[in-house]
Parts: sequence; C-alpha cells; structure tokens
Amino acid sequence: MCPDQFDIDRLRQSALVARVEYYATISSTNDRAKQYAAEDEKQLPLLVVAQSQTAGRGRGGKRWWTGAGTLAFSLLFDAQALRIDRGRLSLVALATGVAVVEAVTPYVPGLPLGIHWPNDVYIGDRKLAGILVEAPSDRYFVVGIGVNVNNTLDNAPAELAHRVTTLRELTGAALDHTEVLLGVLASLDKWLRTLASDSAAVASRVDSLCTQRGEMIAVDFGGQVVNGRCAGIAPDGALQLDTPEGVRNFYSGVVRE
Ligand code: BTN
Repeated sequence: MCPDQFDIDRLRQSALVARVEYYATISSTNDRAKQYAAEDEKQLPLLVVAQSQTAGRGRGGKRWWTGAGTLAFSLLFDAQALRIDRGRLSLVALATGVAVVEAVTPYVPGLPLGIHWPNDVYIGDRKLAGILVEAPSDRYFVVGIGVNVNNTLDNAPAELAHRVTTLRELTGAALDHTEVLLGVLASLDKWLRTLASDSAAVASRVDSLCTQRGEMIAVDFGGQVVNGRCAGIAPDGALQLDTPEGVRNFYSGVVRE
C-alpha cells in the first residue's frame, strides 16, 4: 500500500473512533465533521480523513494548502461527555498541539519540535502542522489537523515554501499515513482526558514547548496590536506578553509575522 493511502479497516478497528469517513477529495474535513454534528443519529468520535481537500481552511479564514502527501483529518467528539466546556476551547487547541508534538517526536528524534502560539506545531522556525478547532455547538467540538508528512516543498505555494517543513523533507523517507494518524489520535485522546481533569497540566506542557519564549512578538486581537516579549504560557493557557504596561494575557489572537 502506498504510504499516503489510508488503511481504512485498521482505522475502523481503532477503539479511539466510533465512525470513520474517508474521502478521496473533499472541500474540507472540518466542514464535513460540522455537517455530521447537525445530524440526529451520531456515532462519536467521528474521524473524517481525506486524501485531498479543495478548500482546506486555516485559522482566521485563511486557506490551508493540502499538497499531495499532507495528512489532513478532523475529529468530531462529544465535549460534554468529556466534561470540557466551550470556555476551554483554546485549551483544546493547545492540547491538540501537544498531542501532535508527542506523536511526531519519534519520527524526528532530537529535532526542536515545539508549539508556536496559538497552536501551530513548528520544527525550528518552520511550520510542520496546523490546527483548527471549531465548536458547531456547546456540546460538539471539531478538531481539524493538517500535518506536513509526505508532501515535498517543490510544489508548495511560493509564499509558504520557506516557512514550512515536512517530515519527508526532514527524514528523507515516506511515512505511513495510517501509522502517523493513529499515533496522533492516541496522543489526542490522552491529552483531551488530561485537559478534562487538569487544564493546568496541559498549559504547563505547552509552556515547556513554547517556541516564542523570550522573543519580541506582536499579537493582533480584533484589529488591536500589542507588542511585547513572550513570557510563556500561564496555568490557564493564556499567552503572557511582557509589555511596557505590564504583563498581559491573551487567550486568542494572531501573531503578526
Ligand atoms: C492553520 O494553520 O491555520 C490551521 C490549519 C488546519 C488545517 C486542517 S487540515 C484538516 C482540517 N480541515 C480543514 O479544512 N482544516 C483543518
């Protein structure tokens, strides 16, 4: 089997998901998961995987490039059953970042993997994975993850090529998508459960993985830009910025490039 192809039977056997939907091509796995959330009968968690997305979405209404070999999927789960309320949505995104870091670490031992707030996964100064968490309702959350696994940068859009990296570029090998995906799901299950019982443990792990600590950064939240030195992640998951007016906490926003 080509490493980019999913072993659907194996995914369906996983105890981590109750239903698996596979699409050769879809607009966006997050959109399909949100659509399923509105259906009456649901088998959850639902995993939506796609070989290719025609309208993959990133945060802030941006497009997400799903090059051939990108691992793209979404998980729809019952957050209420896990006792995670909507107020902790940004922590769900952070927990997902930790899960991705832990799942890919064995493939790139010794390389500087970390979380670039709010929830991108970086290796050094290049983006490896993006995360888009959405809540179609107070009860159901969608975690969408795109990991640059087997894609090469040869056909990446010019504006991305110097800012992203892929596991294939780093290891020289094509990795098995099913294996990587099951690793992320297992790690995600662990970190979502940790979040349910102990948010501060998630925040502390993100703090230790924070790639921006000590750097001067500009955070744009709702059009207002605040400059400051990154002081890490607070126990409640906030990004802490040391500004001339004192330390300020951010729960959402965009870091200006
Ligand atoms: C970002 O970096 O801004 C987030 C990117 C999230 C991309 C993933 S790919 C699978 C899922 N489906 C989407 O449309 N988006 C997410």
